[in-house]
This record gives sequence, C-alpha cells and structure tokens, in this order.
Amino acid sequence: MGVELAYTDAVARATDGLYAKVAGVIPAIEWPVHAPLIAAINRLKHEKNAVILAHNYMTPEIFHCVGDFTGDSLALAREAARTDAKIIVQAGVHFMAETSKILSPGKTVLIPDMRAGCSLAASITGADVRLLRQKYPGLPVVTYVNTSADVKAQSDICCTSGNAVKVVEQIAKDFGTDTVIMIPDKYLARNVAAQTGVKVITWEGACEVHERFTAQQIRDYRTANPGIVVLAHPECPPDVVAEADFAGSTAAMIGYVGDRHPERVILITECSMSDNVAAEHPETQFVRPCNLCPHMKRITLESILHCLETMTTEVLIDPAIAARARIPIDRMLAIK
Ligand code: 13P
Ligand code: SF4
Repeated sequence: MGVELAYTDAVARATDGLYAKVAGVIPAIEWPVHAPLIAAINRLKHEKNAVILAHNYMTPEIFHCVGDFTGDSLALAREAARTDAKIIVQAGVHFMAETSKILSPGKTVLIPDMRAGCSLAASITGADVRLLRQKYPGLPVVTYVNTSADVKAQSDICCTSGNAVKVVEQIAKDFGTDTVIMIPDKYLARNVAAQTGVKVITWEGACEVHERFTAQQIRDYRTANPGIVVLAHPECPPDVVAEADFAGSTAAMIGYVGDRHPERVILITECSMSDNVAAEHPETQFVRPCNLCPHMKRITLESILHCLETMTTEVLIDPAIAARARIPIDRMLAIK
C-alpha cells in the first residue's frame, strides 16, 4: 500500500482552503510537508466511511485539517455514541479510544498509536478500585474518564473535567451521602471538592502535564504580562487553579476565549491548545507555556494515514468488561 505524497497542483487545490484555517499558526514553508498527508487522509476517510475524532490537544494540522469532530473528552464521547460512520479513528489517547469502543461496540475503533497512554489512566487498576470499595463500603465511586475500561467497570459513574462538579453533586444526592470516592486525579478531586459541598476521598494520580505548573509560574506570567487573563485546566494543582481567573475543561477554556475575546490570554494546559484556539481567534494574543503531553504527541498525520491504510491498530475490549464499563459512562452522559 502507500500513496504518493508529493505536493502536487492537485494536492494544493484540495488543501488550499484548509491552509487558510491554520495560516496564523503553521508557517507557509511547512505546508507542503503536511498538505499531501492531509489530502491522502481526507480521501481515505471518505472512501472507508471513517470519522476522525480529534481531541483539543492535537496539533493544528490534525485538529483543523483532518478532524471531523473536535472537542474535549466529553464532546468526543458524545460524538462516539452518535456517529453513523463505520470506523472511528481516535486522534487522542488510548482511554478515549476505549470510551469510543465502549459506546459504539459494533464499530471498528482505531488508534494511530497504541502507545498513546495517560499518566492518570496508568495510575490505577480495577483491583485498586475493588480495594477502595472494601475500605469505604457504601460510598459511590466517581471515576474520571482518563482511566482504563477495567477501572470504569468497577465504578458507579464517570466524569470528565467538563462535568465533574455536576456529576459529584448528583451522585452524592443519589446515594444520600456527603462523601464520594473520586479517582484517580487527586488535583481534580480537590478542585471539585472546593467547588461543591461534597467531601472527596481520592487517589494518588496526577496528570504529568498539568502537575508541572506552579503558582509561582502563574504569578511570574502576570508580572511579565500585565492584564493577562489566566485560564487553567482543573487537572492543575489547587494552588495553581487559585491563581487563575477561570478553571475549566479544554472546551470551557475555548468557550471563554470565544465569548469574552480577551486581549491577552494564557492557557495553563497542554501546548497545542493555544495553537488551535489562536487559529480561530486572531484578535487575541496568546502567551504560550509549553508543556507537551508526550502521549497526545504520538498521534501525527503520518500515524493517522498509516492507521487508515492498514486499519491498525484496532481497539478491542473484553465484551463483559465493556458492558460493565458502559453503565457509569451512560450514567454520566445522562446528566445534562
Ligand atoms: P478534557 O476533558 O478537558 O478535554 O481533558 C482531557 C485531558 O486529557 C486533559 O489532560
Ligand atoms: Fe493524560 Fe495529562 Fe496527557 Fe491528558 S494531558 S492525556 S491527562 S497525561
């Protein structure tokens, strides 16, 4: 297999409109490298009835030029449940592909690089959750979607950073309790507890990208950039969130920029987010901290093309585990 990857006139014609979307963040000299891959991916996608679900942390040539649906983990999960396409290519990390497979068991779900993991998902196993339940009987288990299917299968409800507050409040009410077990992100759990009247028992997990930000860094950014608006992801440590003007999921941060058009902003999150949002908001100046997620960055145009050409690697889950894991995800999706 393999397709011709030259920057021909035909490729230029097929991709010029896409370049217009990313011209602010991808230098023209780089476009001839990306364009043939983009043209080939978009052609194959249509031939195979595949859809690409691209997370907000994908690089701009993926996010803006081959992604059919883009968003935070919650939006991508909703789309995975809804799509009519036969094949889902997950331009994101492994737990996201598993979530898609759980929600669309009859579809072929492909991930361009199986090694695209997540420090949170790697921090806990299903056996750990069973032990937590023994230690704290009767308390509901709220599990971040950044976990394996096995962990979800042991949980009462899932959450994402986009709905964590609502989910925790709802499940505490449903169980008639003032305390929930919230795993595996200790920082997300503490940030959510601070926003609700609910106490949380958590786990020693953290995102390797967001845990590196410090409160001092935020103060230094403010000193160097007077008037800057600071938006932080709730996977950041609580003292970092306390220094921010707003904390929310990747989608909530995008919404903030789109609604309020700040003159200058800094997104305290993964690097590529700023490029993706900047491409759509030339009126806003972005100060860019550069913390990369090494797992997200395993997904490239080359790996997406290879994935579509060879139909690898397919994400498969034991059907019994997938069926159990679906219950807490559906319960989460039912919360509006
Ligand atoms: P969102 O749900 O905000 O997209 O976050 C997912 C993620 O992996 C953040 O690090
Ligand atoms: Fe996991 Fe953090 Fe990477 Fe998101 S950014 S996939 S939470 S390691």
